[in-house]
Amino acid sequence: RYRLVNSKFTVVTYSREKAEYANVNWDELGFALTKIDYMYVMNFTQGDEKFSHGTLTRFGNIELCPSSGILNYGQGLFEGLKAYRKADERILLFRPEENALRMKMGADRMCMTSPTVEQFVDSVRKTVLANKRWVPPHGRGSLYIRPLLIGTGPNLGVKPAFEYTFLVYASPVGSYNKGELNLLVEDKFHRATPGGTGGIKAVTNYSPVYKPLTQAKAKGFSDVLFLDALSGSHIEEGSACNIFILKGNVISTPTADGTILPGITRKSIMELASGFGYQVEERALPIDEVFDAEEVFCTGTAMVVKPVASITYQGKTIEYKQGEETVAGRLYATLTGIQTGVIEDKLGWTMTI
Ligand code: COI
Repeated sequence: RYRLVNSKFTVVTYSREKAEYANVNWDELGFALTKIDYMYVMNFTQGDEKFSHGTLTRFGNIELCPSSGILNYGQGLFEGLKAYRKADERILLFRPEENALRMKMGADRMCMTSPTVEQFVDSVRKTVLANKRWVPPHGRGSLYIRPLLIGTGPNLGVKPAFEYTFLVYASPVGSYNKGELNLLVEDKFHRATPGGTGGIKAVTNYSPVYKPLTQAKAKGFSDVLFLDALSGSHIEEGSACNIFILKGNVISTPTADGTILPGITRKSIMELASGFGYQVEERALPIDEVFDAEEVFCTGTAMVVKPVASITYQGKTIEYKQGEETVAGRLYATLTGIQTGVIEDKLGWTMTI
């Protein structure tokens, strides 16, 4: 580092304190809640110009009116993003503005007021910095950040709430799914319908998935793969991840046109794969195409990039290539390399905080 002092450049050495860490067995982390120190809360009441008076408070329960919009009508959105520790112990956020923009898009669909992009990113930054001892050491996990936007104003009738709370909490996490990814194609239940909320991160998109997911797990599968609700013949996504298939030089993923969550990892992988020289396409993907794919992989903030080991549909199972040598393995290494500061971030995706 150089600094201009009395018209001369002088070498400046910054001494950085060693990071302090919480008492966590980092290598045992899965995807479960560890209660951290602080959360960030900011409110909006009809008549206010915007969300204001955001504060960090101790992590803990919140009080809600029994008649609040979120409890009665599910008027709520969530986001998911991660903070990673670099080798020099600085902390990086990965594309937080993308989450802020997706929340704004979801808020519009759900008739909610949302924080500005700047407020969102600043709240995430403050939450991570207040909880920095919970950001795992370099290469041993990440801090998963969960911003929520919920209707907190009381409403008995079916109409948008007039008070909203934006809350950010976090938890150190390891792998979302430790074992192999064996998918069961779900041909009875659907995740989303055209014109519905499948394309936004509405809280109500997730619990309806529990039934088919629980059933699939009871049969030994790790996740379900949903088909489109209209024709029942095109793949859409998993319970919490997007899906890609590879054939030759072409990587395809279902078009995010309202029934698919426009994942930020999905978008990043599409950009990285194009940079690797693959032809990347978004289109309707008939279920039959998974049977001659060379590789299938899932993406998501929690999931990162994970190769699919097998897909089972109507009693027929197909297995796919696994391991670091796969295209999914290369994409995983590149993405996590950028996220953890090991690979130079030429795309401007990371933010040091
Ligand atoms: C994420 O990957 O961040 C998600 O939102 C999936 C989640 C439901 C675990």
